[in-house]
Amino acid sequence: EVETDLYFTTHQDAQRILKPRKKFSHKGIYGHALLLCGGFGKMGAAVLAARACLRSGVGLLTLQVPSAGYSILQTAVPEAMTLSDKNRKHLSELPQDIEKYNVIGIGPGLGTERVTKTTIGQLLSTSTHNLVIDADAINIIASSEKLKASLPKNKVIFTPHPKELERLIGKSNNDYDRLRDMLEFCHEYQCYIVLKGNNSAIGTPEGNLYFNTTGNPGMATGGTGDVLTGIITALVAQNYTLEEACILGVYVHGLAGDLALKSVGDIAMIASDVTDHLPQAFMHLQ
Ligand code: APR
Ligand code: MG
Repeated sequence: EVETDLYFTTHQDAQRILKPRKKFSHKGIYGHALLLCGGFGKMGAAVLAARACLRSGVGLLTLQVPSAGYSILQTAVPEAMTLSDKNRKHLSELPQDIEKYNVIGIGPGLGTERVTKTTIGQLLSTSTHNLVIDADAINIIASSEKLKASLPKNKVIFTPHPKELERLIGKSNNDYDRLRDMLEFCHEYQCYIVLKGNNSAIGTPEGNLYFNTTGNPGMATGGTGDVLTGIITALVAQNYTLEEACILGVYVHGLAGDLALKSVGDIAMIASDVTDHLPQAFMHLQ
């Protein structure tokens, strides 16, 4: 049984974590993130994650997308560099020079094709990177005990919604047990889990449990999870610890959603509105 410490993230906590940008700095200091996202008919997931990543302070961003997504990404996200997978529709290979990135965000829009599964297997068994793992990348890992066993320790943040968490760690009896089971998984695999929803919960390998206090039901709309993946990936790229990246990332994502609420309301809100309010959200914390 893991000893658990419970926290609710306050505005002050988020402010304390956020680091000021140094006067004499250049983009090399703020990391180079790689996003492996997007699939045929789901290139929007890659666009959303990429834009949010760029709005969260990353120094450089490269994406690799299936070749059908190449011009989509180059057009929609001019600030990012784009690599084209040899496969037209699905992730099927890892980029060359993968060592140059200091974090990899993977999952949104990927799909669960066999080639993609094989590629994720390669990533887990060869990579020394910090990894932010979401959506279909979670589903793929959840479907294979072998992949689970190859998860690198103290390098992984999972960002599941409740269904994805259930696939990853199994069914729990009730909400309380689910949090306990989640922390046991964090301990066993020495990983971090962001369980998304109203009051997202963050579990750490040490048994800490943080409840987020920002966000609103306007964010219950397709793509807001992809935005979170981009934010957390950017923070890890900037050398925040995995724990800090989870706490600050989830907080600022919800705060951006709360600021979006004031300008567009909860009915009309779409995921891009959350990204569009990240600048204000970060400025609130400075
Ligand atoms: N209050 C506060 N925050 C909320 C609420 C709410 N009522 N509802 C949702 N959110 C936030 C969650 O905390 C999370 O950060 O919105 C985000 C939703 O993320 P996802 O559940 O991943 O949803 P989405 O981005 O639409 O996922 C797109 O990816 O994970 C797959 O199966 C998923 O096909 C879907 C796709
Ligand atoms: Mg999602």
